[in-house]
Amino acid sequence: MPNKPNIAIIGTGPSGITALKNLLDQGLEAIAFDRNHDVGGNWIYSEQESHSSVFETTHIISSKTLSQYEDFTFDDFDPEIADYPSHDELRRYFQAYAAHFGLYEHIEFNTLVLSCSRTSNGEWKVITEKDGAREEGFFSHLVVCNGHHWKPRWPDYPGEFTGEFIHSHSFKKAEPFRDKKILVIGGGNSACDVAVETSRVSTHTSISWRRGYRIIPKFFFGQPSDKIGEKSAWIPLKIRSFLFDLLLNILVGKNELYGLRKVETKFAEVHPTINDELLYKIRHGKVMPRLDIKRLEGKTVVFEDGKKEDYDTIIACTGYYLSHPFFDKNLIDYSSGPVPLYLKMFHPEIENLYFIGMFQPLGCIWPGAELQSKIMARELAGKWQRPKNIQELCQREVTHPHYQQIDTPRHTITVDFHKFRKELMKHLPHDYISKSSRVQKIN
Ligand SMILES: Cc1cc2nc3c(=O)[nH]c(=O)nc-3n(C[C@H](O)[C@H](O)[C@H](O)COP(=O)(O)OP(=O)(O)OC[C@H]3O[C@@H](n4cnc5c(N)ncnc54)[C@H](O)[C@@H]3O)c2cc1C
Ligand SMILES: NC(=O)c1ccc[n+]([C@@H]2O[C@H](COP(=O)([O-])OP(=O)(O)OC[C@H]3O[C@@H](n4cnc5c(N)ncnc54)[C@H](OP(=O)(O)O)[C@@H]3O)[C@@H](O)[C@H]2O)c1
Repeated sequence: MPNKPNIAIIGTGPSGITALKNLLDQGLEAIAFDRNHDVGGNWIYSEQESHSSVFETTHIISSKTLSQYEDFTFDDFDPEIADYPSHDELRRYFQAYAAHFGLYEHIEFNTLVLSCSRTSNGEWKVITEKDGAREEGFFSHLVVCNGHHWKPRWPDYPGEFTGEFIHSHSFKKAEPFRDKKILVIGGGNSACDVAVETSRVSTHTSISWRRGYRIIPKFFFGQPSDKIGEKSAWIPLKIRSFLFDLLLNILVGKNELYGLRKVETKFAEVHPTINDELLYKIRHGKVMPRLDIKRLEGKTVVFEDGKKEDYDTIIACTGYYLSHPFFDKNLIDYSSGPVPLYLKMFHPEIENLYFIGMFQPLGCIWPGAELQSKIMARELAGKWQRPKNIQELCQREVTHPHYQQIDTPRHTITVDFHKFRKELMKHLPHDYISKSSRVQKIN
């Protein structure tokens, strides 16, 4: 392999751009490939089916001060931005980050990474496709930032549904569901957003849950709820959970009051759902709570309690697979967990492979991806060394998660935002923030 690293990055979403920026900061040679026409990943909204899964009305669910890069904050971008920016403001933020740090000239857009394999000397052979033409390149290191919210995970039920059956990945806006009878499946952030949005135009919207979920408002006492969470992050989890549930019960009330399934899990055992409108819509008769689906009979859905209802459309908001279609499955396959990566980024055996942003915080992804990128870049610049017992540490990530979560497919890469940040910062010097731009003008 060449002495000087030449690095390939897959993806220029929020994770890929910070990976690229930090590698360039260390004077390293890197190129990023993205199948899309610009940076922003999931935050480039498109009415057509695309990589992106955000909706016309999506606003972020973590508040702005906990959802920014430290090298380029929202104050550096637009000090007037609201607490919870929209998808389009976020797209502009990511594109401004890329322009500010002079990343564009290091990115090949409209370029799909088809395959990545290791050569006999350990290099990465990367095959890409652009405008129908294939090309191969050889790289000393590979950085994977392809995102983990784009490959739909579909539910499976006995029987057959003869109406329209889509996944939230293809849900873009409410209008196509005007005057229809809609059933939304799931209790995550997508399901609750989709139920609220379709209920504005549908004749009927129901939401089917297979368990009870805490619906957390975006504000407590006039403050973003994750800011309250941040202030209480020092309290041991057990006590914090108790206090949080107490607060929720006082301010919002128990699920049963809304006809929703009772919450039977402890706080953080399930990824939190943040939504200000679902409970309101339920109490206004716009969204009807339903139990799990037992079977499908034509256009009729039979629920667990025997209730039968007809629907025009089912929207499965049942989450996403971790997917890396450019790897041979024998090399990398995390689609059904576990994910034994140290700091969610270092592989136990393959030293020249990094994953950035492949974790699910109870909070925002890119602040953690930024810190991961800085560690990676320092390693490649010879300023930091990975621990010798990396294999043991990878296993430890699996056996000692931050939270003991229920065993469902979405819970394989969860981290506590604040704890994870602290763990990453241990590997960085005090002056890790680097704000200097490579270009003066922000587009
Ligand atoms: C509706 C919705 C709302 C969300 N809201 C939040 C939120 O509020 N807060 C939060 O933190 N997260 C949220 N997320 C999660 C979201 O995935 C992350 O915010 C963020 O986009 C992750 O960044 P990423 O760069 O890791 O991945 P992505 O944003 O998915 O970017 C991956 C990039 O890789 C490119 N790519 C993928 N495969 C290839 C390939 N083979 N070849 C070339 N290019 C490729 C894609 O084109 C894309 O540009 C939300 C997700 C959804 C679906
Ligand atoms: N900013 C925003 O407004 C916003 C909007 C949407 C999404 N997001 C983010 O995007 C990511 C993906 O969210 P998501 O809601 O699409 O997916 P998700 O978090 O994986 O949630 C999937 C939901 O579907 C349920 N489910 C899965 N399989 C099922 C089945 N077979 N039958 C019934 N229910 C099933 C899950 O139940 P279990 O509880 O049993 O796992 C869970 O409630 C998350 O990080 C989320 O925070 C953010």
